[in-house]
Amino acid sequence: MTDNLNDTIHGYRSNSERILTNDEYECLYSPEQQDRQQVSEFKQNQFDKNAQKYWDQFYKRNTNHFFKDRHWTLREFNINLNEKIKLFEVGCGVGNFLFPLLNELPNLFIYACDFSSTAIELLQKDSNYDQQRIQSFVCDLTDDKDIPIDDNSIDFCSMIFVLSAIHPDKMSYVLKKIHKVIEYI
Ligand SMILES: C[S@@+](CC[C@H](N)C(=O)[O-])C[C@H]1O[C@@H](n2cnc3c(N)ncnc32)[C@H](O)[C@@H]1O
Repeated sequence: MTDNLNDTIHGYRSNSERILTNDEYECLYSPEQQDRQQVSEFKQNQFDKNAQKYWDQFYKRNTNHFFKDRHWTLREFNINLNEKIKLFEVGCGVGNFLFPLLNELPNLFIYACDFSSTAIELLQKDSNYDQQRIQSFVCDLTDDKDIPIDDNSIDFCSMIFVLSAIHPDKMSYVLKKIHKVIEYI
């Protein structure tokens, strides 16, 4: 059995072929195994209720040594390098997505938010942080406050591995909230 992820995307090999072990195969394809691995409802609620606290602890523990800088963005998205662009990076963490992009796009301005105040502090202390080109702030996407950015003012919004950190019941609310600040064309 192999995972079929070794297709090429834009000429890059997205993953290499590997034989799954029997246990891995069982975990992927047997519903009984998947059910057995689910955390209890109580724990799920705890994780959801205290998500901000847990993410903050995560950044206190790992600082900016956990995620690697993401250098693949321009390979994946078709962006005109010379255009003036306003991007809203939602759930920016410590900037592993935004710093490489700022480097590659000279006319880019980034609004960046995260609900971990530790992540935002680390981002602002980073030697690559440029106040002329980044405006960052603490913001919980799931609360009832508006995002502090003018409505209809953003060209692009990015959420890299963020929606998966939000409870499915709140996803549509979060997307509507973000949608307000994206420019309506
Ligand atoms: C997997 S990290 C990705 C960080 C960053 N986008 C990157 O590419 O490195 C997910 C981020 O989403 C943030 N996050 C999760 N739920 C959030 C919420 N409700 N409001 C704001 N940020 C949130 C976390 O604090 C964390 O920094």
